[in-house]
Amino acid sequence: LKNIHIVDDQRDLLGDVRIKDELITEVGANLSTENEEIIDFSGKNYYLLPAFTDLHVHFRDPGLTHKEDVNTGSHAAIHGGYTAVNLMPNTKPTCSSMEIVKDVERRVEEIGLIYANQTLSMTKNLEGKDIEHLKALKKGEILFVTDDGKGVQDDHLMEEIFNICKEKDITIMCHAEDSRYSATDMRIAENNMTFRDIKLCEKTNGNIHFCHVSTKEAIDAIAAAQAKGVRVSCEVTPHHLSATGDEVNHYRVNPPFREKEDIDALVKAIQDGVVCAIATDHAPHTAEDKRNGSPGMVGLEVAFPLCYTKLVKGGFISLQKLVQLMSTNPSEMMKLNKGEIKPGKLADLVIADLDNPFIINAEEFQSKGRNTPFNGRKVFGKIVHTISRGRVY
Ligand code: DOR
Ligand code: ZN
Repeated sequence: LKNIHIVDDQRDLLGDVRIKDELITEVGANLSTENEEIIDFSGKNYYLLPAFTDLHVHFRDPGLTHKEDVNTGSHAAIHGGYTAVNLMPNTKPTCSSMEIVKDVERRVEEIGLIYANQTLSMTKNLEGKDIEHLKALKKGEILFVTDDGKGVQDDHLMEEIFNICKEKDITIMCHAEDSRYSATDMRIAENNMTFRDIKLCEKTNGNIHFCHVSTKEAIDAIAAAQAKGVRVSCEVTPHHLSATGDEVNHYRVNPPFREKEDIDALVKAIQDGVVCAIATDHAPHTAEDKRNGSPGMVGLEVAFPLCYTKLVKGGFISLQKLVQLMSTNPSEMMKLNKGEIKPGKLADLVIADLDNPFIINAEEFQSKGRNTPFNGRKVFGKIVHTISRGRVY
């Protein structure tokens, strides 16, 4: 790849990148070439970034494949600049066994477009009761457990989960929602469980990652816990950064769209280094399921433009910082050899046009889901190509 702006969290240069098979082998200005395929970007003003890694994705496979499946999900990922995803376990059946974990990962691998890590449910069938399958895990068998879509309501069970996960080196991914408040006050619902889990994390000397943090109270509590040395990390979503509830007519998602003060607090937490990743919570639903109240929206194919437009164009963070949040940090959390543009790293890259605005058009999505409140929005940051393990799409 020649004459392109190369940007990762360590580098920012106009230059060339050599790729051999699946790997980056050389980065620099004016690399010599011989008998190689050359793609020259002279005159294009394109940017080469490490391809993105998404910590929070629903592929709905097995069992809910009318909404999405591993094939359409993989294509949606590539289309949005993602080459690695972390899949949520609220499938049908629930992903509560290593057999399902292995099967989903194998089927994504067979398609060959992206890498997927499948998470395991924290409680069996997301029922909040039985954790025998966790106790049976061998150390190192699984990276993340989560009951995403629900929180574990039983405090004592949650404390036990912290202890088991600590012993087995597993990171808990927490969907913070105290269900006693789900019907009446979704702010208290998120805040309550965030506060509880921080306390339990501190007490057990455990380790937790909060998903889709959306309130100023929750993010402030996470920042304070980090300052005390409690091992908590968190992600925020592109959608919670990009609109208030009023602006999108309270489009249904959990946690809900919030207020301007919340967005400002999330942006400040990003600037302060409290947030380690931007993750989409890609949640495809059919139009009928949305009409019937299913929460969530697709995210893979709009995440980079939404974040680039809000955060970088908006003057809050640098492009390098955005790369850190969408690629470097989540790739490190998933223990992947990607997220930087340097020799020895996987040639997982995106080529982006940052100059020309465009209109989000859900009809162009590769996902089965068209559910987004951002259809028709003008944004910057078009993904022109995604390169996955050296192959250009
Ligand atoms: O809006 C949401 N949709 N939030 C979640 O936590 C789950 C997700 C889904 O699975 O549809
Ligand atoms: Zn969730």
